[in-house]
Amino acid sequence: MTQESKPQAIKTLHYFSGITLSLFIGIHLINHLYSFAGPEAHIALMEKFRKVYRHPVVESILFLVVLIQVVSGVKLLFNRNAKTVAEKIQIYTGLYLSVFLIGHVGAVIEARLVEDLDTNFYYTVAGLNMNPATWFFIPYYFLDVCAISLHVASIHYLKTKSKKGAYLIGGTGILAAALIIAGYTNFFHWRETPPKERAFIEKYFGKGY
Ligand code: HEM
Ligand code: HEM
Repeated sequence: MTQESKPQAIKTLHYFSGITLSLFIGIHLINHLYSFAGPEAHIALMEKFRKVYRHPVVESILFLVVLIQVVSGVKLLFNRNAKTVAEKIQIYTGLYLSVFLIGHVGAVIEARLVEDLDTNFYYTVAGLNMNPATWFFIPYYFLDVCAISLHVASIHYLKTKSKKGAYLIGGTGILAAALIIAGYTNFFHWRETPPKERAFIEKYFGKGY
């Protein structure tokens, strides 16, 4: 492989793993939007989705794709001399996504394997509703959903030069981010956290009020 074709190969890898990961992100975010419908409806939908993404083969591919996305994305950063606003958005959202994805997938695996927690509706509720953890988790999840949609919006703009399309993708993502936070916090009227998830958050963030 020549020096010039190497970045192109990484870009192609990032592109195809990005498409694969987006399929999961789509169902994942729909499931999070179900927080509006309350715990029973959210968990019922999650159990249907889990039959697919928790299948050992699918789950292994999913974890591999997350790793490929982060490693190839970080490699692409070094080839990118960002000049325009769209290119800068692509870089900074990519950076945030790499930090988020490593932290997020690591935290979910740790909760499942070490803490023996079911990472369901109440796992997210705990972080988003308990003080002081909520000060960390609201921006953490909100910015993640904004980052993924702005990453895609900037790609759309760079490929098509359509500002309208890019604003629509970015705007829809920011709205979805706000709705997910509103759903999990019951519009900031706060949701009750069960004892097991409460103890888990208190272990890392201390006892708040
Ligand atoms: C969460 C999942 C992600 C998805 C779905 C995604 C998707 C994509 C897609 C489809 C492209 C366009 C590739 C092309 O032009 O053909 C792209 C470009 C790019 N992504 Fe990501 N990406 C994600 C995460 C990341 C991460 C974690 C980074 C790390 C910093 C990153 C950095 C970049 C960079 C620098 C480019 C520009 C490549 C170039 O044109 O030189 N992305 N991304
Ligand atoms: C770029 C966006 C995101 C990506 C790529 C992502 C990725 C992942 C992955 C790969 C898993 C592991 C799935 C498995 O259990 O096999 C996961 C699980 C999980 N994520 Fe995310 N996530 C994203 C956004 C979010 C957000 C915004 C939240 C919270 C509002 C969240 C909450 C959860 C929860 C609770 C689980 C456990 C699901 C389960 O046990 O079935 N994720 N995520």
